[in-house]
Amino acid sequence: MTPTFVIFGASGDLTSRKLIPALYSLFRKGRMPDGLRVIGFSRTEFSHDQWRTALAESTQKFLKTEFDNASWAKFAAGVFYHAGDIEQPADFAALEKAMPTYGEKPGDARIYYLATAPRFYEPAIEHLGSANMAAETNGERRIIIEKPFGTDLESAKKLNVAVHRVFNEEQVYRIDHYLGKETVQNLLVLRFANTIFEPIWNRNYIDHVQITVAEEVTVGRRGGYYETAGILRDMFQNHLLQLMMVTAMEVPVRFQADLVRDEKVKVLQAVRTLTPAQIAETTLRGQYRGYLQEPGVAPNSRTATFGAVKLYIDNWRWQGVPFYLRSGKAMSCRTTQIVVQFREPPHMMFSNCKGDQVDSNRLVVQVQPAEGLQLHFQTKVPDAGMHLTTSDLEFRFSKQFGPIPDAYQPLLLDALEGDASLFARHDEVEAAWSIIDPIIQDWANSDRPPLYVYEPAMWGPEESVAWMQAQKRQWFDTCPVLGPHS
Ligand code: BG6
Repeated sequence: MTPTFVIFGASGDLTSRKLIPALYSLFRKGRMPDGLRVIGFSRTEFSHDQWRTALAESTQKFLKTEFDNASWAKFAAGVFYHAGDIEQPADFAALEKAMPTYGEKPGDARIYYLATAPRFYEPAIEHLGSANMAAETNGERRIIIEKPFGTDLESAKKLNVAVHRVFNEEQVYRIDHYLGKETVQNLLVLRFANTIFEPIWNRNYIDHVQITVAEEVTVGRRGGYYETAGILRDMFQNHLLQLMMVTAMEVPVRFQADLVRDEKVKVLQAVRTLTPAQIAETTLRGQYRGYLQEPGVAPNSRTATFGAVKLYIDNWRWQGVPFYLRSGKAMSCRTTQIVVQFREPPHMMFSNCKGDQVDSNRLVVQVQPAEGLQLHFQTKVPDAGMHLTTSDLEFRFSKQFGPIPDAYQPLLLDALEGDASLFARHDEVEAAWSIIDPIIQDWANSDRPPLYVYEPAMWGPEESVAWMQAQKRQWFDTCPVLGPHS
């Protein structure tokens, strides 16, 4: 049985930058079946060869030395282009009819990938239904849906209803590429395949958790999109909450899609609801200087490009432990890190070391780009009396395993193999919106918290430092030191 990936939105950026390089890399490594077919569907007219040539160029550009002509030729033999309009039901019927001409046999599995602008998700799903392309009478049918899944709770619910009119939940793979990152999956392994972390992974030992996704890049040419999204929709509803779920969830009985997702959803269900007055106190927003001059941005825009949100998870494990979620564009460096800050020792017997800076233990999960872990702990400075300093144990993926594959690779492979553990379920997406929606609305309707302007290449607004200090804490603002493979 040879599967087919059908990509809707084939002429778009996501297809050339992520999907095709990931599919080709998997194929080159022998992880995809021989004869794999990839069919691009888009309005622009291309011949099969024109599309193949364009993809060869873009794939080579992104993969550099991981590209070779011989394996590309084999891969490209299974690449086809089918021109069609996503808003025309007849074009779906025509695609269905053409499938055997691309080599599809009865019983072959098909994976549809919605890589279009989000406004086309509903029509595409509806037309797949009316052309009878979701029914599994002639082989498995799955659909991968890109983010954003809705723009608020209401639209996400509406989209879920539209999806379920045509596909069963088991056929649906809502992608969040953060879950495809090896370091995020490794967090599950760190927590649940080791004994030493789990006993201390709770309110008795942990003071707070910081989850930071900092980006050095500005909004650039994406101003039009970003004006409708802002930092909360673009990063918090999906990536940051996913990282929080993986950090905070209970251990599932088995690594199996629904069991994993049950535990993740429970985290979101336990997040304390914030009143507008609390939102003013427990969130912070900023806009980098220069954002208003980006193309596509309104001259008086109040869109936040930086956000920090303090959440509490009201359950036995996490009662009273704040989770600080923070993300921004135009920050000091690109780094995604989860910092687990442990409590101070209950009693400090080294009373003669008062002048020393004594930090509590800290576990830092470097999600990217210097993928790895650091455990910070206190050590005695040799030959200096009883003086203490912070040292760390460090693990780097690149040192042990070499370069890490792009997050789309494991996710596409999982979707092909029918494993949805690392994809969001309908209730998870809705629960995430119900946490973020009130903040979005409050930020839109009030001046509290104020929108602070921050200088690019900083860690967001200066006020965020004072905000943490007022809570007797501080941000862990460290840019990762990059090695040759990172
Ligand atoms: C995307 C956002 O989902 O994630 C972008 O839309 C952001 O704004 C990107 O830049 C970050 O992904 P990564 O994998 O580069 O951290």
